[in-house]
Amino acid sequence: MLTHVGIIMDGNGRWARSRGLPRIDGHKAAEESIHEAVEYCGEIGIKYLTLFAFSTENWKRPKAEVSFIMFLLSRFIKRNIENLDRKDVKIRAAGRLDDLPSKPRADLDAAIARTESNQGLNLILALSYGGRAEIVDAVKRLTADIETGSKSAMDITEESITSYMYLPDVPDPDLIIRTSGEKRLSNFLLWESVYSELYFADTLWPDFRRKHLQEAFADYGARRRRFGDIGGN
Ligand code: FPP
Repeated sequence: MLTHVGIIMDGNGRWARSRGLPRIDGHKAAEESIHEAVEYCGEIGIKYLTLFAFSTENWKRPKAEVSFIMFLLSRFIKRNIENLDRKDVKIRAAGRLDDLPSKPRADLDAAIARTESNQGLNLILALSYGGRAEIVDAVKRLTADIETGSKSAMDITEESITSYMYLPDVPDPDLIIRTSGEKRLSNFLLWESVYSELYFADTLWPDFRRKHLQEAFADYGARRRRFGDIGGN
């Protein structure tokens, strides 16, 4: 079963540099890969696709690059919202969204509101997202509820902590793909990835196409997931 796929879209900068282009051209080229991933996942009936678009650490990048990524987010929504809505895609977001500049934030909020009742693929944009930040934010809200008495420390379980995460209804990712040959999670879905299968592709994100996704899904399909159990034989 492949219900939730997460993708760490890495290698945009290297893709651009290898062509003698500025880094931002790599982010621009990333749009086609995003488009193809969303189309393909929608087509084969995947329910949740989480794209790591901007991390809590990415704010450290040069101001011009950060601004350009924010501009791309707005442009991506503007260019694709009609088509995504028609394809029944539900746009969602996870992260410290209050840190986003007002324009992309407003565009994102409008896209989320417009597609709220859609029933197809949930396209989750991880923006200003960090796995540790998510856990910190969850602990703060849980502690506040304990202070007001609406929760008791005795109620703390894995399930109750999960209910304080950004998107508690979303099942844990079955598969996390990282492109560009790097082999680490870089603060992506820390709480949720405990039993995720990991797939590392050498392809840089702007070159990552439908056939690469098919390879990743075929590789995943051949794995046996035991979730700590002994797996039946
Ligand atoms: C990783 O490549 C990519 C990012 C940190 C930003 C990804 C952003 C987008 C694809 C555009 C905005 C999002 C949407 C939804 C349109 P890198 O720059 O770290 O590459 P490098 O490791 O080769 O330097």
